[in-house]
Amino acid sequence: MSNDAPIGMFDSGIGGLTIAKALLERLPRESLRYVGDTAHMPYGDKSPERLKEYATGIAQRLLDQGCKALVVACNSASSNAMAEVRELAGPEVPVIDVVHPVVEWAAKHHPGGELGLIGTRATVQSGLYDQLLLARGIRVESLATPLLASAIEEGFHNGTISHAVVEAYFADGWAAGKDALVLACTHYPLVMEDIRAQLPRGMAVLDAPSIVSHHVESVLRERGLLASGNSPTRRFEVTDWTQSFADGAAHILGQPVELVEVAWPEAK
Ligand code: DGL
Repeated sequence: MSNDAPIGMFDSGIGGLTIAKALLERLPRESLRYVGDTAHMPYGDKSPERLKEYATGIAQRLLDQGCKALVVACNSASSNAMAEVRELAGPEVPVIDVVHPVVEWAAKHHPGGELGLIGTRATVQSGLYDQLLLARGIRVESLATPLLASAIEEGFHNGTISHAVVEAYFADGWAAGKDALVLACTHYPLVMEDIRAQLPRGMAVLDAPSIVSHHVESVLRERGLLASGNSPTRRFEVTDWTQSFADGAAHILGQPVELVEVAWPEAK
């Protein structure tokens, strides 16, 4: 496997770009292939079976493009389809999810603590975070916030609508008394201002893009897979061209992005 092969990454939409941005800032020499599965957005309302189908279909496409590592930049897929994606990738291609690095970080920085967690229904119902955090002595109260990812994908970040949605979910002082908040959906950092406005003063929010990108760097380093070249390439694909993805990507990455629409990859 060439060190200068791209990292493959996917999400249902723009959310995974919060991870991509942090990763490219940390590792500017890396090439990236990103797929936003906009044809099936939102993932958060899909069954585990559907998520496995979508995730393996996209993973296969990225593997076919010669990716040296895969980052499942979506909590809903990371909570429901990792075994299948790992099996497909085989031992040579590391597959990094967005759940385990955050759990390990929480275990280190909030030992014995109590966390709040917001995520999609698919993530919360999988119970994966609860199980992993409890096993490390951390209590967690999880709340499904299903409207949020779609609102963000539609372009509502840190404005009246996203503020009202977040406020409705955080009603009754839900966040009070918790040590920190896990944003268990990669779309949610895009409404950080709206979320912070609902939290008790000083409450920490775990910075998943930074934690995950740091973990990706460690994995690539351990495997001897860090890029060495000076001409990284980036390609952004969507399974359905949407203006909201184009606008969201430009907003997150700070520059317009050329989007390529691809046919929905069949699961293998
Ligand atoms: N950004 C994804 C996640 O982390 C998916 C959101 C959605 O499509 O519902 O779960």
